[in-house]
Amino acid sequence: MAKSIFFPALSLGALLLTRAMAASFTIVVNETASHPIPSTLYGMMYEDISSGDGGLYAEMLQNRAFQQVTPNTTDALNAWSAVNGASIAVVDNTPSLSKALPNSLQLTVPEDATGPVGAQNNGYFGINVQSSWTYTASFYYKLAQGSTFSGPLTISLKSSTTGQTFASASVHIKESSEKWTQVSVKLKPKTTAPDTNNIFEVTVDGASHSGQSIFFALFSLFPPTFKDRPNGMRLDIATTLKEAGPSFFRFPGGNNLGQEPSQRWVWNNTIGPLTDRPGRLGDWGYVNTDGLGLLEYLQFIEDMEMQPIMAVWAGYSLNGQSIPEGDLAPYIQAAKDQIDFVIGNPKTNAMGAKRAALGHPAPFELNYVEVGNEDFFSSTYPYRWRDFVGNLSAAYPTIKWFAQNAFIYDGFERNGTKYFEGEYAAISTNAANLFGTPDEGRLTFPTMQSSAGEAAFMTGFERNADIVFAASYAPLLGSVVNNQWTPNLVGFNADSVIRSTSYYTQQLFSLNRGDEYLPSTLPSPTGLTFWSVTRKNSTKEVLIKISNTDTAIANLTFDLPFKKIAPTGTVTVLTGPATASNTPEEPDAITPQTTSIAIPGKRFSFTAPPISVNVISIVAS
Ligand SMILES: *[C@@H]1O[C@H](CO)[C@@H](O)[C@H](O)[C@H]1NC(C)=O
Ligand SMILES: *[C@@H]1O[C@H](CO)[C@@H](O)[C@H](O)[C@H]1NC(C)=O
Ligand SMILES: *[C@@H]1O[C@H](CO)[C@@H](O)[C@H](O)[C@H]1NC(C)=O
Ligand SMILES: *[C@@H]1O[C@H](CO)[C@@H](O)[C@H](O)[C@H]1NC(C)=O
Ligand SMILES: *[C@@H]1O[C@H](CO)[C@@H](O)[C@H](O)[C@H]1NC(C)=O
Ligand SMILES: *[C@@H]1O[C@H](CO)[C@@H](O)[C@H](O)[C@H]1NC(C)=O
Ligand SMILES: *[C@@H]1O[C@H](CO)[C@@H](O)[C@H](O)[C@H]1NC(C)=O
Repeated sequence: MAKSIFFPALSLGALLLTRAMAASFTIVVNETASHPIPSTLYGMMYEDISSGDGGLYAEMLQNRAFQQVTPNTTDALNAWSAVNGASIAVVDNTPSLSKALPNSLQLTVPEDATGPVGAQNNGYFGINVQSSWTYTASFYYKLAQGSTFSGPLTISLKSSTTGQTFASASVHIKESSEKWTQVSVKLKPKTTAPDTNNIFEVTVDGASHSGQSIFFALFSLFPPTFKDRPNGMRLDIATTLKEAGPSFFRFPGGNNLGQEPSQRWVWNNTIGPLTDRPGRLGDWGYVNTDGLGLLEYLQFIEDMEMQPIMAVWAGYSLNGQSIPEGDLAPYIQAAKDQIDFVIGNPKTNAMGAKRAALGHPAPFELNYVEVGNEDFFSSTYPYRWRDFVGNLSAAYPTIKWFAQNAFIYDGFERNGTKYFEGEYAAISTNAANLFGTPDEGRLTFPTMQSSAGEAAFMTGFERNADIVFAASYAPLLGSVVNNQWTPNLVGFNADSVIRSTSYYTQQLFSLNRGDEYLPSTLPSPTGLTFWSVTRKNSTKEVLIKISNTDTAIANLTFDLPFKKIAPTGTVTVLTGPATASNTPEEPDAITPQTTSIAIPGKRFSFTAPPISVNVISIVAS
């Protein structure tokens, strides 16, 4: 068994810092690399916890298609309200737009109505109205049988506080429209709204339509998207993720694979026209539209130049229910179909042909498939793993399979097994509160202290990169007004994105990734200061990462083995008060600062500030 070199042994859950005296370290670096750093090492673990719908997925209207709601209930009208005395209800008593979308919105104009009457949607906790953007608004409408309805429908973006109209368009609808007709308009705001208290509204003239009914289905409002993809991703969030330099994206999301078998994520319910996607009740008690479906994920991953790490449903759901071994076959087949959809040759494979028909003939790159999620909690895992991996590896011998592993790599044998650290984060400074809510002690936002702790942990990934092939922080994205878990790497609301100190830590590690690990004097597993040294061959850069979780400065002296050393390097430092965070009020409280550092020769010193994450880059050979 190889010697354990996985430090630090500190618990990410509890970081208790006591020392106040500066410590000094002398670190001798060895020129001979011990192992390569896999290009997959840093990436992102995505989980739909109010982070797809209303987050990464750019759709602006909440409950746009009344999916998975109970008709005639108040809850079914979530995010919708009546305008000017209109009567609105979600109904299923009219021929539906599609089998997948049985519900529609019935708008009835009161008998004595005057002025504009209609329905409005308040978005995902606000709507971002920008004058530089052109929005695409669309919906389907249908008139009741025998209706004499005729006239314009007005579609607008307005302030919900002042009533000011920022953009509007109108379409003429006809009395013969007894079948579903799609309307699509462009909205170009004349001014940028001062805040996100805005609504999307559809109205008719009340006086000329009194007593009339009109049905609506599948509304949509899209701003410009990342890479201009139709049905695409939110520009600011996608750009923020891109700038972190991730190499992989794990999806469709940890626990969101299913609360019970009937609610599992079914890949082929998430592809094709939006009218064919029923949506599903997600694991966190709200409806997923599945507008962000398998093909959208893959397209996004390709646009981001990342690798997919795709999960398949492995016969186990979060409520503890397992599919018996004798009944696994159809689920194994579904996993094969899902993989074929991603990589199948359209000429020879029906699923590949399906993908081609949806606009992506070329197979996607797929090297990693995750079998289930948190499945190791279950005693049925051995047979499910055996049957899934047995069948899948026979069909796709080049794909690598893995299950998520726990935190501890100490003493792991160097025997060919590779590990994926799928979800890590320092979530509390109090060990008693690891699974609670913010009220119970979980951090609301990452703090400088928790981020420095993560950086310490990440130096261990680099040291153990011979067996850890990929690692991702979780949770990745969280709405600051509506989230299930904190802290999140990236926070957002309707019009802004907050990059946390942990985001910057990920970014520093990801963008300063070496391709091989240079052994150096080991940090003490019980110490408070940690480091790792890597080299990037293509640029001859030596990249030194230092996490100082101490409340005192740390003095580090490095002994470099190189013959040629550039006299000046750069150092990027992320530091701040231990409990400070980037917040919606102060999103830039703590940001990395880059300066130059003199390297007088083979031996140089660096003082790491208290509670800091530091990266030194030196060209040397
Ligand atoms: C650490 O370095 C600073 C700056 O070079 C120096 O003033 C201080 O005395 C050093 N502290 C220790 C404990 O070595
Ligand atoms: C550097 O590592 C190599 C290979 O492990 C070893 O042979 C050599 O002794 C090391 N050099 C120093 C100065 O420790
Ligand atoms: C909703 O109300 C309409 C009209 O009252 C009725 O026809 C329909 O059956 C109701 N649907 C449900 C699910 O109760
Ligand atoms: C999805 O695929 C499974 C087989 O993988 C098939 O049984 C099912 O009918 C498909 N569903 C849809 C909506 O196409
Ligand atoms: C494939 O799955 C079936 C059904 O669970 C199982 O009986 C069979 O042993 C598996 N085949 C392999 C090669 O693992
Ligand atoms: C390697 O060692 C680990 C930990 O002891 C063990 O779980 C795994 O099955 C081993 N892998 C192989 C291929 O022997
Ligand atoms: C980097 O370059 C060194 C020296 O040229 C070579 O020995 C080593 O194999 C290279 N490492 C990688 C990961 O390419």
